[in-house]
Amino acid sequence: MKNVSILLLPGDGIGPEAIAELSRVIEWFSSNTDLAFDITTDDLGGAAYERYGTPLADTTLEVAKKVDAIVMGSVGGPQWDNVERHLRPEAGLLTLRKELDLFANLRPATCRAALASASSLKEDLVSGLDIMILRELTAGVYFGEPRGIETLPDGRRRGLDTQVYFEEEIERLLRVGFELAAKRNKKVHSVEKANVMESGVFWREVATRVGKDYPDIELEHMYADNCAMQLVRQPKQFDVIATDNLFGDILSDCAAMLTGSLGMLPSASLGSEIDGKRAALYEPVHGSAPDIAGQGLANPLATVLSFAMCLRYSFNRQSDADLLESAVDHVLAKNIRTTDIAAQGVKPVSTSDMGTALIEALNELSTQNA
Ligand code: IPM
Ligand code: MG
Repeated sequence: MKNVSILLLPGDGIGPEAIAELSRVIEWFSSNTDLAFDITTDDLGGAAYERYGTPLADTTLEVAKKVDAIVMGSVGGPQWDNVERHLRPEAGLLTLRKELDLFANLRPATCRAALASASSLKEDLVSGLDIMILRELTAGVYFGEPRGIETLPDGRRRGLDTQVYFEEEIERLLRVGFELAAKRNKKVHSVEKANVMESGVFWREVATRVGKDYPDIELEHMYADNCAMQLVRQPKQFDVIATDNLFGDILSDCAAMLTGSLGMLPSASLGSEIDGKRAALYEPVHGSAPDIAGQGLANPLATVLSFAMCLRYSFNRQSDADLLESAVDHVLAKNIRTTDIAAQGVKPVSTSDMGTALIEALNELSTQNA
């Protein structure tokens, strides 16, 4: 028996629906493997604001710091558009990332075989695609000071944010990138805007120095705008893309669409290893999709695949992670699809039907393997 603790944060919008299906999957692993889950569920984002008056309560953060892993749904919604910035749903997520020092955000864009035709790109460009976007998550313009909206003495108003990176922040991110590449196709693209930004020049300098420690890994520097273009032109040229917080946010949405749907992309946000333990938050790359929330239309697969990453990275359960990913492929191959990835002429299924199909696939595949 292996005991693991998880904090579930369903959040807002489609988050709770996706987490509900994930809970069935976790239940399945609890009944069918020797993993024993100790689950706590709490609010984050808008839901937490309504309940606690803050998007991340201190009590929630305390639990978050203790558990082995956190799995989140999504945060945000138009009903909180006019709330003060530090109380907005997104602020809860950003504080969580910062407080746990979850600097390494792994966003694997893998095109699952059954979905190659669902991409907005030509099938041959994306079939077999397997790239890893590694996004820095606790620094850069998301957190840089000064920031704000201010009125100058001459009466002119301005809004400002600051892009700032310390050397060690770039270095630790790049090291994760090289280590990931070592287990993959041995190529890292370090992405910045060294042609216009000082922080970009510095990023490139640090990446070059750190790269010398990894002679087997090919390092290429690329400007972020070019990277966006190359992602839709020839995505298979990439292996690991290591980039800052803002560029990583943008490029990962772009990469997500290559895989068929934003509803498919999982992510893992990892901290440094301290005493053999590494703080970890698993969340889908997609947002809260308020336009479809509560209608049973959401695709729960990005959340489920995030849990597969949790099995892999936090619980060291490679075969359980493989099983769950195979179950997802199995369901997709049977043309069981939510609206966002539905094949032409095939009636889409609901969020909970997708959950049911996954459980059936897990049962089927585990008896085959037994
Ligand atoms: C993401 C999201 C978040 C971000 C939002 C919800 C704060 O877009 O995880 O990609 O910008 O980091
Ligand atoms: Mg984003």
